Amino acid sequence: MDKIVVRGGVPLRGEVTVSGAKNAALPLLFASLLTQDECRLRRVPRLMDIRTAVRLLHELGAQSEWLSDDEIVVSPHTVHQCEAPYELVKTMRASFLVLGPLLARFGRARVSTPGGCAIGTRPVNIHLDALQQLGATIRQQQGYVEAEAKRLRGAHIVFEFPSVGATENILMAATLAEGTTVIENAACEPEIEDLATMLTAMGARIGGAGTPTITIEGVTSLHGVTHEVVADRVEAGTFLIAGAITGGRVFVRGARANHLRAFLEKLQDAGVLIVEREDGIEASCQSRPSSVDVITWPYPGFPTDLQAQMMALLTLGDGRSLITETVFENRFMHAQELARLGANILTRGNTAAVSGVAFLSGAPVMATDLRASVSLILAGLAAQGVTEVSRVYHLDRGYERIEEKLSRLGADIRRVKE
Ligand code: UD1
Repeated sequence: MDKIVVRGGVPLRGEVTVSGAKNAALPLLFASLLTQDECRLRRVPRLMDIRTAVRLLHELGAQSEWLSDDEIVVSPHTVHQCEAPYELVKTMRASFLVLGPLLARFGRARVSTPGGCAIGTRPVNIHLDALQQLGATIRQQQGYVEAEAKRLRGAHIVFEFPSVGATENILMAATLAEGTTVIENAACEPEIEDLATMLTAMGARIGGAGTPTITIEGVTSLHGVTHEVVADRVEAGTFLIAGAITGGRVFVRGARANHLRAFLEKLQDAGVLIVEREDGIEASCQSRPSSVDVITWPYPGFPTDLQAQMMALLTLGDGRSLITETVFENRFMHAQELARLGANILTRGNTAAVSGVAFLSGAPVMATDLRASVSLILAGLAAQGVTEVSRVYHLDRGYERIEEKLSRLGADIRRVKE
């Protein structure tokens, strides 16, 4: 297992280019299962989770080839299996997103249930209820969801919560259903809009993606496509904090301010200077951050995927910040590890009270999940002395060559084999 060693205290300066969004690329890869034709995806980040998704596509019988460092072509005409095994779903929960496309195209699917994870129980009831409303028969046995439907039928579905994954699964399934599907209380994340853009280019009829009401008129088949993955707003936000927390100045090329509104406002409230440009966003911070209160919320609210990074910044705030996590039930695992660097954080239920300290000092820490691990690296970049972050396989699931990108901004960071 690798670990990342950071010697903190260097203000980061320069420019970094954001990669394509992991959370968009995964459903886009699985959307290729809805057609017989080749699908080309550009600006695909080279991450563990993408490798897992490609392995799953191969398991189902699809073929794929990397045409360049960030462009992949998937040939789904050879798909003959409709089963996503436990081994792959447990490695990556987003594998569950093959359920909708497989069911819509082949009339059946057998997909392992994902189970809980470090940040909460994460059930899939919203996905399954909605598929039943589309006419699928669902059985759950031996840890698998077995779904069947000769052809799905359009329905009016109201989600009890705007689940990102359920919106994606049902959006994909409904493209090939008979008749019209309406999803109310749908998730509005930019990754959903990106998926709808690709599906529309494949011949699907979709209105309202990116709003809480999505309408899908089913068609009988979809065709191939070439599509570029939307920029990763979480990676972009992470680099903006890297600039701010080190008292430096970082320009994130390709970052889209309209995808980061709630986040940028909070950074500005914390005293970070934000400059929005057409080709990206710059963040700089010359003084100690101010304390701010943050509540995570589904998009367009403050993203839960940037909560840990924001907490890292606020550990150095000049007062007490309250962070409330409303999307996941157990997403403060990083608080204990940040405390090892000298942070003063009290968590109770879904709220964390972060009392800012004047400085952090390096220590060995352990990553518990993807965004938690990057928050420890951010804190390590600001801390005095050396921070060693172990279990960085979490990090490799979602950040492309992060130590390389941070080094180019001047960070003293390296990866060592344990
Ligand atoms: C996606 C993102 C993840 C992000 C999350 C919320 C991907 C691959 N992952 O995860 O990075 O943190 O959105 O922005 O895109 N829920 C239910 N029943 C369901 C489905 C969800 O109760 O059937 C609950 C979950 O337990 C969780 C909340 O809804 O508490 C949000 O989950 P959801 O929006 O589905 O997140 P994911 O799609 O899993």
